[in-house]
Amino acid sequence: MAVVIKTPEEIEQMRIAGRLAAEALDYIGTFIKPGVSTNELDKRIHDYHINVQGGVPATLGYGNPPFPKSCCTSINHVICHGIPDDKPLKNGDILNIDITILKNGFHGDSSRMFTVGEVSPQAKRLIKITHDAMMAGIEAVKPGATLGDIGYACQTVAENAGYSVVQEFCGHGVGRDFHEEPQVLHYGRRNSGIKLEPGMIFTIEPMINQGKRHLRILADGWTVVTKDRSLSAQWEHEVLVTDTGYEILTISPATGKP
Ligand code: MF3
Ligand code: CO
Ligand code: CO
Repeated sequence: MAVVIKTPEEIEQMRIAGRLAAEALDYIGTFIKPGVSTNELDKRIHDYHINVQGGVPATLGYGNPPFPKSCCTSINHVICHGIPDDKPLKNGDILNIDITILKNGFHGDSSRMFTVGEVSPQAKRLIKITHDAMMAGIEAVKPGATLGDIGYACQTVAENAGYSVVQEFCGHGVGRDFHEEPQVLHYGRRNSGIKLEPGMIFTIEPMINQGKRHLRILADGWTVVTKDRSLSAQWEHEVLVTDTGYEILTISPATGKP
């Protein structure tokens, strides 16, 4: 399957799905505090997607084994695909919430970092640099640039700060399918890989570890953790390649910022 070039109508639908994903993240952010469980957050996201947004949580039942929840909640040394559970969040935790809404047949996929109570300066720095890495990747997007340019930009920011880039998971084309081509690696060489063209839509979602890049997958088949148990952070946006550069489809309506 080749990379899908979206039509103007499809792009409009992707703007809608992307905005809903961002709105759901704005919504859930208001409930995050010590003592709240990720299951409570998951239930709120599930109900918000269905009852308020008229969509479906695309993660529920996705993959094999079927993912059991309506979002991923990845705390501290969890890199990605954490499964919501009944454990209460604690003061000092850092948390990624990754949501994907399916609306009118199109996917809105985005994730953000959240902090619980007071977190350490080291954790704040990791969160900030990871956001910087994602933005550097996004800013590399324009027609004629390559996927390698995106990976190189993310990797440079992360490694210059002393962190490592997870290699086993990547960004992806997104549209009618949750995960489409191409694979968007968050490391790489300039001028390598396919050339970007207007109408492509993909995610950029770097996972950056405070320690080494290596990971382990837990027996639940989903939860990905750092092998050295160091902290990990991730941010994710959907990006459209435009005639002149890029458009981020999952900007927060609450702040107007990526
Ligand atoms: N939202 C994730 C991504 O960014 C995928 C989660 S799949 C799940 O690609 F099954 F773990 F939910
Ligand atoms: Co994604
Ligand atoms: Co996601």
